[in-house]
Amino acid sequence: MDRFHIVGPNRLKGTVQASGAKNAALPALAASLLTDEPLYLDRVPQVRDIRTLRRLLEHLGVGSKQNGSVLELAPAGEASLDEAPYDLVKTMRASVLVLGPLLARRGHARVSLPGGCAIGVRPIDQHLAGLEALGAKVRLEHGYVEVQSRRLTGSRFRFAMPTVTGTENVLMAAVLAQGTTILENCAREPEVVDLARLLSSMGAQIEGAGNETIEIQGVDRLGSARHTIIADRIEGGTYLTAAALTGGDVVLEGANPADLAPLLEKLVENGAEVSETAQGIRVARTGALKPRDLLTSPHPGFPTDLQAQYMVLMTQAEGKSTICETVFENRFQHAPELMRMGADIQIDTSYARISGPAPLSGAHVMATDLRASACLVLAGLVAQGETVVQRIYHLDRGYEGMELKLQALGARVERVS
Ligand code: EPU
Repeated sequence: MDRFHIVGPNRLKGTVQASGAKNAALPALAASLLTDEPLYLDRVPQVRDIRTLRRLLEHLGVGSKQNGSVLELAPAGEASLDEAPYDLVKTMRASVLVLGPLLARRGHARVSLPGGCAIGVRPIDQHLAGLEALGAKVRLEHGYVEVQSRRLTGSRFRFAMPTVTGTENVLMAAVLAQGTTILENCAREPEVVDLARLLSSMGAQIEGAGNETIEIQGVDRLGSARHTIIADRIEGGTYLTAAALTGGDVVLEGANPADLAPLLEKLVENGAEVSETAQGIRVARTGALKPRDLLTSPHPGFPTDLQAQYMVLMTQAEGKSTICETVFENRFQHAPELMRMGADIQIDTSYARISGPAPLSGAHVMATDLRASACLVLAGLVAQGETVVQRIYHLDRGYEGMELKLQALGARVERVS
């Protein structure tokens, strides 16, 4: 099992290129099930979750091959199975994204129920309610969810809460339904908008993606498309937070500043210098870090996927700050590891109180999920001495070549197998 060895403290300086967004690429790959013509996706990040989904798609009769920067997906062999087995779903919850497309295109899908994970219970009741509203019959049996329908029928459905993959799943089913579907209280994340752009290029008729209400006019078939995945705002945001944390000076190339606005506004309040240059988004800091209170919420609020990284930043701010996590009920598992490194944090269910600045010292720490791993790597950058972050496979699920990007910014970090 790989681990990172980091020797700190480091000051990050230089330019880093944003990778394609994992959470936009995953539904884009799943959309390949909606057509029998090829899809050409540019800027799909080379991360473990994408490899897992490619394996699942192959199992479902869609082959994929990488041609330079473009991933080509097309039907391959017999589409014998409509089933996402437990072994694949348990390693990646996003496997559930095949449910909507399989149902819409083949009239049937059987997907292992993902169950809870390190950050919360994460039910999929809203995915299922949305598919039921389109006419699907839903059955739960032997740990699997089975959905079935002849042709889906357009309908009006309101999500009980904005859910990112839930919105994506129901959207992918509705594009092939008969008639008009109106989805309310949809997730407004840039990744949902990117999926709608891809589906539209394939021939779908969608209006309102990025707003609370999305209207879809069902079509009979979808065809081939070429699409470039948006930049990963969470990956990019991680490096910009690291720049502010280490008193560094970093330019992020290829990202969309609007997608990063909730983080950038916060970093300005924290005393960092933030600017848009011809090259990209620059974050630099020379003065003291100011503490600020943070509340995570669905887009356009502050993303839960940057909460752990922001917590490290607040351990170095001069004074008291608080973080309230409202999206997931169990997303502070990085905090005890940060405390082992010297951070002063008190946790009360979904509420964290942080007192800074607390000098961090290198330690052996264990990652529990993807963003918690990123948080511990950032902590290692400012800690005195050597930090060893174990279980880097979590990080490899969503960060493309993180050690290489950090090394290019001057960090002393090494992957050890
Ligand atoms: N929820 C329900 N019922 C549902 C669906 C969601 O109760 O049917 C609840 C969840 O338990 C959670 C909240 O609604 O409390 C929001 O969850 P959401 O469904 O939006 O999360 P997701 O779609 O499972 C995606 C990202 C996550 C990211 C969240 C929130 C992908 C593949 N995953 O998950 O990314 O944290 O949205 O923005 O898009 C990550 O990349 O590290 C990651 C966890």
